[in-house]
Amino acid sequence: MKIIKVLIVDDEVDIRELLVFYLSEKFTIQHSEAGNVNDAIKLIDKAILENAPFDVCISDFNMPGGKGTKIFEHIINNNIKLPFVYATSVDDKELKFSDKFKVTRVNKPFQEDDIYNAVASLLLESNSEILNLNQDKNEKKISNYSPISIDSLIFLKLINYSLYVKINEESYVKVSYPKTVFSNENYNHYVEKNIKQLYLLSSDYKELVNSFAQKVNSSLFLKIEDEEEFQQFKLSEQIQKFITDIFDQFGWSKELEEIAVANLKNIIYLAQKNKNLKKLLNSINFEKMNKASAHCVLNSITSIVLMKEFNFPVEDYKFIGFAAFFHDNSLSDYIIENEFKFYQTLIQKRPNYKDELKMLISHPNDSVSALTRAGFTPELVKTIILQHHEKPDGSGFPNGIKENLINEYSAVFIIAEHLTFAFLEHVNWSDLKSEWEKYQYLNVGKFSKYYNSIKNLLVSE
Ligand SMILES: [Fe+2]
Ligand SMILES: [Fe+2]
Repeated sequence: MKIIKVLIVDDEVDIRELLVFYLSEKFTIQHSEAGNVNDAIKLIDKAILENAPFDVCISDFNMPGGKGTKIFEHIINNNIKLPFVYATSVDDKELKFSDKFKVTRVNKPFQEDDIYNAVASLLLESNSEILNLNQDKNEKKISNYSPISIDSLIFLKLINYSLYVKINEESYVKVSYPKTVFSNENYNHYVEKNIKQLYLLSSDYKELVNSFAQKVNSSLFLKIEDEEEFQQFKLSEQIQKFITDIFDQFGWSKELEEIAVANLKNIIYLAQKNKNLKKLLNSINFEKMNKASAHCVLNSITSIVLMKEFNFPVEDYKFIGFAAFFHDNSLSDYIIENEFKFYQTLIQKRPNYKDELKMLISHPNDSVSALTRAGFTPELVKTIILQHHEKPDGSGFPNGIKENLINEYSAVFIIAEHLTFAFLEHVNWSDLKSEWEKYQYLNVGKFSKYYNSIKNLLVSE
């Protein structure tokens, strides 16, 4: 069984750990970690001096103290045989590639398969080791237990699953029960016995890695990698004007407008920065406003204004903002703009429009699935999207749940979307008020407190 020596470089310890998890699931690895470019270069040189060079290096791009390209340049300049993987969300043109040196990239946030494919393809190219890799993979599949290093255990601390010690290929002994803390004492105990790894049931290991990945990926998606670049990022004039018009129309304050704009800027920047999300948004043009982008922008700023008015925590604005951008990602521009009317018409004309109706009813689920495929995992965002057509009286879709099952944040989003539809129908202020009165079905249970605040928002000038 071939052991692969990996150098993992990232300033975020969580991401390094996730890479260790992903790699260990597919390969037998021995790994070193660096948190910055200089440490990485030192480790590479040291390994060569000790005649035990790394087989592959996986590196972040944006790190304090130097970009990941510096490591690759070091490899080129010193003619080092070290396959290199960029793990980053930045554009290809910011990276450095080479025909003579093995190099590839994966998008951040990455999935397990992205990492496996990148590493396997580089190693295959370098020394046709793929047979060994696959053999290795198969061996791991056969076993019901998966190894986890004691370093990972001390890093995770709280372990939700039983741990085992391996006696031989067939027998494993349980040494701890679910939901126990892996303490320094535990760690030292195993170090003394020269035990470097314990085992989990493979199904538990999968679950542990998945939930850790979800946590890491959610924070990744919501993090600005390059603060300087973000400062230079501006919303297009069209969006800016669109928003100012809306705030004037609603008679909402400049302060509210600034909050909404700041959040919107953040969300659009992050969504466009990430290749997977950008693809999902490709029908939406944020330079020139089209129907879909107007719908998203309108929903997102209205939701954020409502969050502010209803005193939701500031740090949660982004979740509803993201939901606004992706809630209809599986619908066409035309349908997005006419969603509500479309739904009414289809219901009336059924069964002649069975397929259209089906598509409309499944779009909350479809939009969530597309986000999941793109690796975007914040639970709250998914919940809001899944529930965005539910109504508090149970007359909504896809599940027809009532207000007690509708998430607080979904509730705000549902109200915001109604408000934006009312707004699209009636640019005139007093008409808007009367249009809003039509949504009496929103005045149910916990929604009614919002309903009254909305009235105030609409009435005060
Ligand atoms: Fe929708
Ligand atoms: Fe919508």
